[in-house]
Amino acid sequence: MSGWEKIWQETSARELWSVPDCLVLELATRWKQSASIHRVLDLGCGVGRHVLLLASMGFETYGLDHSEAALETCRARLQAAALTAQLHRGQMNDLPFADGYFDAVVAFNTIYHGTAREVDAMVELVRRKLRAGGEFFATLPSRDNRLYGKGEMIEPHTFCDPRMYKELLGGEGESGVPHHFSSREEVHQFYRRYSIQSLAHEELRLALPARRGTTVSWLPISKSYFWRVVARREDSHDG
Ligand SMILES: C[S@@+](CC[C@H](N)C(=O)[O-])C[C@H]1O[C@@H](n2cnc3c(N)ncnc32)[C@H](O)[C@@H]1O
Repeated sequence: MSGWEKIWQETSARELWSVPDCLVLELATRWKQSASIHRVLDLGCGVGRHVLLLASMGFETYGLDHSEAALETCRARLQAAALTAQLHRGQMNDLPFADGYFDAVVAFNTIYHGTAREVDAMVELVRRKLRAGGEFFATLPSRDNRLYGKGEMIEPHTFCDPRMYKELLGGEGESGVPHHFSSREEVHQFYRRYSIQSLAHEELRLALPARRGTTVSWLPISKSYFWRVVARREDSHDG
């Protein structure tokens, strides 16, 4: 059973990852206004906070994750909200979609679970799945992240920490799951075949769901620095 399969069986993890990220909300609002983005994939969709957001905004929404527990929760949440989205169980490096199929792809805290080569291949695979002019939003941990250098080094800048996010996620945390940490230069290298629209270096924020009569409270995760990248596929050929 993968680390995330176990994590998603915990109610606390499902709750922690239930409120959409502010930047995804902002981007989706811009995409809606532009009227040129219709079909959107949430890659590594987890329990579906962004799938629900995108579906509720009227996008043709797709979600892909390898965790059945996550997809089950996502399915139930869609049904409860009377929303529809196409959910696929599978590996993110083997996307069951035609090239040029999506107008936009969202990958929040997912594509860095591997070596530098694997992250590079993921960024390129997503480019192929986007139409010309399509946009890709992703987060990548930076080398200023407090978890950089912790655990077993698989290769330079890639670590597998048995305690990774244990305090945050409970259970075994992300034990056994590799994390690749990027510099600004490396982000530019990964996205060399895109045009980068924005690149911000920020701490991860997760929102605790609002209880009755309260507002959502954000849980700041100290020194959890991530790159937040919005990039566009510019070319129209399939090279
Ligand atoms: C940190 S969670 C983020 C979930 C979601 N993107 C969000 O923002 O709420 C990472 C997700 O990536 C999924 N994941 C990790 N590696 C994957 C892989 N190789 N193929 C498909 N999904 C994967 C996990 O199951 C998990 O749901």
